[in-house]
Amino acid sequence: MKHLIIIIALLITLHVSGQKFSGLANTPPMGWNSWNTFQVNINESMVKAIADVMVSSGMKAAGYEYIVLDDGWMMKERDANGNLVADPLKFPAGMKALADYVHSKGLKFGLYNCAGTKTCAGYPGTRGYEYQDARYYAAIGIDYLKYDWCNTEGINAKEAYTTMSNAIRVAGRPVVFSLCEWGGNQPWLWATAVGHLWRTTGDIINCFDCVKDHGSWKAWGAMQILDQQKNIRQYAGPGHWNDPDMLEVGNGMAVNEDRAHFTMWAMLAAPLMAGNDLRAMNQQTINILTNKEVIAVDQDVMGIQAFQYKVKDSVETWLKPLSNDSWAVCFLNRSAKAQSVTFNWKEKNITDELSKAALNTSVTYKIRNLWTGQPAGNSTAALKATIPAHDVLMLRLDK
Ligand code: GLA
Repeated sequence: MKHLIIIIALLITLHVSGQKFSGLANTPPMGWNSWNTFQVNINESMVKAIADVMVSSGMKAAGYEYIVLDDGWMMKERDANGNLVADPLKFPAGMKALADYVHSKGLKFGLYNCAGTKTCAGYPGTRGYEYQDARYYAAIGIDYLKYDWCNTEGINAKEAYTTMSNAIRVAGRPVVFSLCEWGGNQPWLWATAVGHLWRTTGDIINCFDCVKDHGSWKAWGAMQILDQQKNIRQYAGPGHWNDPDMLEVGNGMAVNEDRAHFTMWAMLAAPLMAGNDLRAMNQQTINILTNKEVIAVDQDVMGIQAFQYKVKDSVETWLKPLSNDSWAVCFLNRSAKAQSVTFNWKEKNITDELSKAALNTSVTYKIRNLWTGQPAGNSTAALKATIPAHDVLMLRLDK
């Protein structure tokens, strides 16, 4: 009897604390999501072409793997049995065939739904159908679920996301679970056991430094999103990431702004979900999205987010500890004019309080410029550089 009580207590604990699939997203997930460019205007031939280009453009080789359909893939109503139905006009061959196609390219497939009664765009939400929807996703063979937070009518976020996490677990197919609750309930405090990444802010827009006020909600430029990442770096790590939202690279910002945005996401060990029309991207966009050395900073196995070390004349200095005692160092010029920076590597030791990693004056580091792809001397000489407006200088220091 005593043992039975202990077992029941353990099961209850598991149930309320969540049991996500472990071993997934050991580094920040990389892929593509339909929302930033297409909103609900998605369809089978477009998504197949995107998967094709993810391979032919070199993005797959650079590490991108998930093709995720955001809001708008469903019919406006469930069927008579309460099942979700993919819109047959948009996806005539059905969702399973599309998942199979994406898998045949060596890629992974993801879908979107919402913890509320309806998704943000008004399609059927999952509330009350968690286990049924999870079975549907497992049957299709999805690998990633983005789970939003519209029309939630006052429900408890931790419980709602835990319920869906448990439903995915019970359905049996390993799925990366992406919480999209916009940070209002501080998911970094409770979602490590529940999911693999969690949005930290409201939606991004394709703007470097601005806010778009929609009345009841605001969309944020890349810099505004960056400013909302303060004091949460300690909650991210392998298998559980802060998500500052999907990329706007290739969606209309200037090339230097795209570069700065992508760099800062890499410094933050952020998920790298491209949000542009891969079929129409130019070479500059490809070069940014597939810069392997910058991606390696994002994907470093230690999974430690950068910290802001200094701000001077609108230039922010960010430092990210990497494995093997290496560092990524980024100077971000947020101002609208070029700024000069100096940095004396030998001035003092810098220790990251979180990871205890140290940038030591006693070490002579080899330096690489990750955007020119060229060596940039070593740490004996102080750095002197001019950073163009809305741009970055991104360096890697190796022992
Ligand atoms: C919310 C999310 C977005 C997107 C839309 C879809 O706004 O934050 O990322 O998924 O819903 O309607």
